[in-house]
Amino acid sequence: MSAATTGPAPVTVIGLGPMGRAIAATLLEAGHPVTVWNRTASRATELVAAGAAQAATPADAVAASRLTILSLTDYRAMHDILDGSTDALDGATIVNLSSDTPDVTRAAATWAAHHGASFLAGGLMVPAPMVGTEAAYVYYSGPRAVLGAHEAVLRPLGTPRYVGEDPGLAQLWYQAQLTVFLTTLAGLLQAAAMASAAGVGVGDFLPDALDTLTGIPVMLEGGHELAKRLETGVHPGDLSTVAMMGATADHIVSTSHASGIDTRLPQAIKSHYDRAIATGHRTDNWTALYEVIKPRH
Ligand SMILES: NC(=O)c1ccc[n+]([C@@H]2O[C@H](COP(=O)([O-])OP(=O)(O)OC[C@H]3O[C@@H](n4cnc5c(N)ncnc54)[C@H](OP(=O)(O)O)[C@@H]3O)[C@@H](O)[C@H]2O)c1
Repeated sequence: MSAATTGPAPVTVIGLGPMGRAIAATLLEAGHPVTVWNRTASRATELVAAGAAQAATPADAVAASRLTILSLTDYRAMHDILDGSTDALDGATIVNLSSDTPDVTRAAATWAAHHGASFLAGGLMVPAPMVGTEAAYVYYSGPRAVLGAHEAVLRPLGTPRYVGEDPGLAQLWYQAQLTVFLTTLAGLLQAAAMASAAGVGVGDFLPDALDTLTGIPVMLEGGHELAKRLETGVHPGDLSTVAMMGATADHIVSTSHASGIDTRLPQAIKSHYDRAIATGHRTDNWTALYEVIKPRH
């Protein structure tokens, strides 16, 4: 008597923006039967040609697989799609890889539980073309057992990084990382505008700007010392003081102004230094800015 063989589990993907399409394509490549649904049905065309089934309704899509992955602009979109199909949620597992606030995500987990669904929140940490590559990883939060039950299916999208039972935590990790990402991208654009305003070719300038970015991990030596300073609130050091860095922040505002470029980002950074100096951190290391950024209890 031969044991019954089971193939890769069926998966449903709702939301076919760049990310949802990359998720569905990666699951198809991994051999899963994939059902898709998207508000704008035409976005499924290529996936259907590649073997996906296109559900007629969100309820049909959820019913097609034990596991439904959502990839939507925000959680409002999830409610717009599924609020009229809550009967289909009973017994389903929803993994929502859409961005939203931790509080909205916690409320969604409660909503899903109320309708009999298991719910896991996730944040995919790479752009769509990198989904399924070695570099991809995904923060997950919610019941660990739910991740455990579906980890084999989810792993091809990116290495899972489980951050806790609180469903809001994956969003928090995601948004903290996106804070680094968005401010870095804004900084690059700000710097390029300054260079360009002075007649420096952006193409000549940007490679050096990227060297500055990749030099930061070296400067932070893996982040252990930085973590210690932020955790202890002690910021010794005379190599990069608040006074010195603050003077540079002031020069950047003045140069931006003289260049005719937008000054709001440099002003925001200068304000951190101004407030750190005003609260007695002039001779501390630049890490003392943390004291004016973090919440005051
Ligand atoms: N793109 C990236 O590089 C990237 C990287 C990491 C994480 N993420 C996250 O992944 C998620 C999806 O990203 P994306 O780039 O694919 O987003 P997107 O381009 O905004 O696509 C969003 C999807 O949401 C659907 N949608 C939006 N509002 C809706 C509503 N009210 N009702 C029904 N459907 C609605 C869209 O449907 P239609 O097609 O009908 O408009 C589309 O399928 C986002 O939360 C994003 O933050 C994206």
